[in-house]
Amino acid sequence: MDISVKRGHPAEQKTACLIVAVHAGKKLSSAAATIDTALGGTLSKLCKRGDLTGAVGETLMLHEANGTAAERVLLIGGGKAEGIEAAEFQSLAQKAARTVVDAGLRNAVACLADLQVKDRDAGWKAAQLALAFTGAAYRFDQMKSKPSRKPLLAKLTLLTEASRTSVAEAAVTQALGMAEGLALTRDLANLPGNHCPPRRLAEAARALGKAHKSLKVTVLERAEMQKLGMGSLLAVAQGSAEAPKLITLEYQGDVAKSRPVVLVGKGVTFDSGGISIKPGPGMDEMKFDMCGAASVLGVMKAVATLGLKINVVGVIPAVENMPDGNAIKPGDVVTSMSGQTIEILNTDAEGRLILCDALSYAARFEPDVVIDIATLTGACVIALGSHASGLLSNHDPLAEELLRAGQRSGDRAWRLPLWEDYQKQLDSNFADMANVGGREAGTITAACFLARFTRSYRWAHLDIAGTAWHSGKAKGASGRPVPLLMEFILNRARRGS
Ligand code: BES
Ligand code: MN
Ligand code: ZN
Repeated sequence: MDISVKRGHPAEQKTACLIVAVHAGKKLSSAAATIDTALGGTLSKLCKRGDLTGAVGETLMLHEANGTAAERVLLIGGGKAEGIEAAEFQSLAQKAARTVVDAGLRNAVACLADLQVKDRDAGWKAAQLALAFTGAAYRFDQMKSKPSRKPLLAKLTLLTEASRTSVAEAAVTQALGMAEGLALTRDLANLPGNHCPPRRLAEAARALGKAHKSLKVTVLERAEMQKLGMGSLLAVAQGSAEAPKLITLEYQGDVAKSRPVVLVGKGVTFDSGGISIKPGPGMDEMKFDMCGAASVLGVMKAVATLGLKINVVGVIPAVENMPDGNAIKPGDVVTSMSGQTIEILNTDAEGRLILCDALSYAARFEPDVVIDIATLTGACVIALGSHASGLLSNHDPLAEELLRAGQRSGDRAWRLPLWEDYQKQLDSNFADMANVGGREAGTITAACFLARFTRSYRWAHLDIAGTAWHSGKAKGASGRPVPLLMEFILNRARRGS
């Protein structure tokens, strides 16, 4: 999408749709007041009549706008004129974007960048508008025999009264880089299991490596993983006809030899549960069990596209979890790369089995911090629903930094405890640990399992089981937690650490 920032008169914009806000209490924003004059008082009349009150999220499309250069005017509820919450701004931006995209319009001019938002600057607002519109214009129709013929929004202009546009312009450029990463994450995640086995994730990584000199991509095959002793990861893969891959992407954007941020993404391209097979209803959604991997690839793409001054490494263990004559069975004991043995009591707790070896492998990059991202537990969906990702960490400052990044981006996480008290739930009579910890505190015991492999570095775990995709009518990948991770990385790149 082409997005530009400019100063100009709202009534003189030649566009398919001019978007202006009406504040709470039927108060016209300054852009809306200008348009009201051009339309001979139509907007005031509509407000008076009660067609629009100005509450956040309200919309009213005027399909005629004679007197202005626009074909249509979209009125959007802008909330309190004195200032709204950041989340309210995001929600009205998304509402405006969805309305314009659903109407099949090719271009729009938004007069929303000058709304007052508490504790946020012009750059943040411009970036959020860019993300809202690119996000709404995202479409996944690769698998349809005939792609949708509805026109796609291709051009957006952010109109402002500010004297300087450079801050907003820089923010839009950054948001567009992020949007490319987000679209890659969503595309890969939305692909069905048969079109996206582990080798497809490896291809996506290699394509990124080709496109960006700053990215070095390596893919380890089964034999190499065997040599490294990754008995746990390979155990999950042994029931599938698809070969496992261990994908690494090394981005060097900081010439100084600073320690990298290492992102480890769960890449189970389909999780049937294995021999501990899942129930039928909703099982299709387990194609999304590689959303952690997809978010790592999306972040790597955005970071490389933007050429950020930071070092980042992505590690993706990619497997398919299937029942088969060769598959692992409940009771099987395997030896992980760390040397610790694991009794597999439930083959459906496979995410931790591939992550533990990937986390041991991550140590070789001498990380500053390691963050794993995984659709790890159904229990996390029960605990936090689809609003927040679960966050568990062995390092308080890292946890705080991630929570802040979530708050700032609106892609929030919520911390759960990682106390030693929970560790005993993983006791096994036959191995060093079991791979499940019983019904209680499932998200925490899953993280406790991972914690046994991350003792040598600062580490955080994001459980994105509830946030990575939408179910129901709007079924599809959300792109989360790419916004959180990008906020985290952008802040670090800015700080130069
Ligand atoms: N991929 C699932 C977790 C999941 C389930 C994510 C539903 C989103 C929605 C994971 O591999 C899994 O099956 N976890 C089990 C763990 C249990 C066997 C301890 C679960 O959550 O039921
Ligand atoms: Mn599972
Ligand atoms: Zn899984």
